Amino acid sequence: MSDRRVITVLGATGRQGGSVVRAIAADPDGGFTARAVTRDKNSAKAKELGDLGVEVVEADLDDEAGLRRAFDGAHGAFVVTNFWEPLDAGSQATTRTERERAQVRNAAGAAAAAGLQHVIWSTLEDTRRYLPGASRPEGGYPVPHADGKADADAFFRDAGVPTTFVNAPMYYEMPLTLTPPRRAENGAVVLALPIGAVQVVSGTVENVGRVAYGIFKAGDPMIGRTVPIASDLTTGEQFAEGIAAALGEPVRYVPLDPAALLASGMPDAEEVVNMFQFFINAEKDLVAGVDFDLLRRFGADLQPFADWAVANRDRFRALGL
Ligand SMILES: NC(=O)c1ccc[n+]([C@@H]2O[C@H](COP(=O)([O-])OP(=O)(O)OC[C@H]3O[C@@H](n4cnc5c(N)ncnc54)[C@H](OP(=O)(O)O)[C@@H]3O)[C@@H](O)[C@H]2O)c1
Repeated sequence: MSDRRVITVLGATGRQGGSVVRAIAADPDGGFTARAVTRDKNSAKAKELGDLGVEVVEADLDDEAGLRRAFDGAHGAFVVTNFWEPLDAGSQATTRTERERAQVRNAAGAAAAAGLQHVIWSTLEDTRRYLPGASRPEGGYPVPHADGKADADAFFRDAGVPTTFVNAPMYYEMPLTLTPPRRAENGAVVLALPIGAVQVVSGTVENVGRVAYGIFKAGDPMIGRTVPIASDLTTGEQFAEGIAAALGEPVRYVPLDPAALLASGMPDAEEVVNMFQFFINAEKDLVAGVDFDLLRRFGADLQPFADWAVANRDRFRALGL
């Protein structure tokens, strides 16, 4: 037991971090053990982690000293921040971008102080060169939740932390949450997305954990590398086909005019529109960047969207279309 290397996992009660904890816990003889970080050990999700037999500790990304304690004695850490969490009234930061930047700086500083040998930082692509004329809704960034993370990569490099950078894919959950299908007046189910005909780097969130665990096991050769994670490349037509298979009725894909999304009143619409435009403008590079052979070697789950949608059919049916 005691010779297992500890991986401190930020965001352990959430989707990405949770998947890392589960991947490590699923392989008790793999030489690693997870230390799950939460701000509240008494939350239901934290208790579920405790029930898995995982060590659970409290720390907050806003507090570098607390992170340092959570990293103490660990071999490595998986770091993810939650850009989308609403700002607290008492927060020192005035924007989510500013808060995320400070949190990553804290994580990098704590990792360096703790002498961690391997950090995986869940970052995202820098969209700026692909969106030269786009609006910049926050922090001078066209897609603040992505560009802010990309800019924060430098904190790990500058602090000399041995880091692997992973880019999480667009979650397969997206058509359930951000842009769900709807039933049109003529009774047909329609999935409207502003992604034209491009392939989107997409996948299950669970895959983040599998790949991250593979990266920790691979160790030193992965330091300094950036690994885009995906289960598959998915077009709007394929998203619609998958939802059709889940619902058991035809679903029509409609390439959405970004102006319609902007006018929809959706929260953070500008940022979301810019993100989809980035998927279009950067398609060639994003697709070329995914090394499926490497992901396969790390035990990635490469199921296509349709398989995932059918396995999650209850969630699509619960949309009550
Ligand atoms: N949706 C997508 O398609 C997509 C794709 C790529 C990347 N992303 C990125 O994914 C990130 C979110 O990851 P997720 O989906 O795994 O999040 P999630 O499921 O919403 O969970 C958020 C996690 O963050 C933890 N957390 C939040 N604030 C914290 C703080 N101040 N200190 C310590 N822990 C904190 C929470 O822990 P406690 O509440 O237990 O403390 C929770 O475990 C976002 O930054 C987003 O940009 C999303």
